[in-house]
Amino acid sequence: MSRIEPDIPSAEEMKQHAREEFQAWASTYDKSLLNYFLFRPSYIVAMEEIARWHHEHRRPVRVLDIGCATGTLAKMLGCSPMPATIVGLDFCPKMCGMAARKAKHFGVDHKARFVNADSEFLPFDDASFDMITCSNSFHHYPNQAAAVAEMHRVLDRDGRVMVVDGFRDCVIGWFVFDVVISRIEHGVYHAPWPVMNGYFEKAGLSNIRRRQFNFWFPSFATIGDRVA
Ligand SMILES: C[S@@+](CC[C@H](N)C(=O)[O-])C[C@H]1O[C@@H](n2cnc3c(N)ncnc32)[C@H](O)[C@@H]1O
Repeated sequence: MSRIEPDIPSAEEMKQHAREEFQAWASTYDKSLLNYFLFRPSYIVAMEEIARWHHEHRRPVRVLDIGCATGTLAKMLGCSPMPATIVGLDFCPKMCGMAARKAKHFGVDHKARFVNADSEFLPFDDASFDMITCSNSFHHYPNQAAAVAEMHRVLDRDGRVMVVDGFRDCVIGWFVFDVVISRIEHGVYHAPWPVMNGYFEKAGLSNIRRRQFNFWFPSFATIGDRVA
């Protein structure tokens, strides 16, 4: 009798699927209503956490934004008075192009650059950044532990990682992320808090904490520091 294989996409299929989904979406992405309900609250939390790091360390911040899409966080940071530079990284080439155009349009291209690469293989030297943000992108990564290990590698001493994703450990979050979004974005995985905590611990991050926000699209930031 032949075995029935479950319909689980391979890592390469997942990455390819994400790239195609966002290539198709890139030109209308900024007009999507999801910006108001899901993405914008995450950018605000990211800006707050970057400002917190700057306040604690009192020096310019080198930020890496993984899964930057059209570069909205880079625009917000570039337009803010905070002394900061930002590299936006995205697997989708069209998103990187749109992000670069947006930075130029807002006159922040001297503070921001964009790199087309995979979160699992970051094309940067060790200890290159003070703050790494990654919002609403992590559920697309087939090798999530490897991605967090890469974040830790490129983080400088005293640096901080913040990964934001859907919080599916409550009824609304379970429905939005596990039922609806998982059906639309085939094969994605919204890691629950204990799993995220485990990834951070395994990568060697310390002071791991969680910040929950957004009632109707429940989201959480997992934040950890590199202390040595
Ligand atoms: C929903 S958008 C999130 C954008 C933004 N960070 C936000 O919060 O609105 C997800 C982004 O992750 C990118 N992405 C998906 N898989 C990726 C990977 N393996 N490496 C880097 N970026 C990836 C997609 O191309 C897309 O632009």
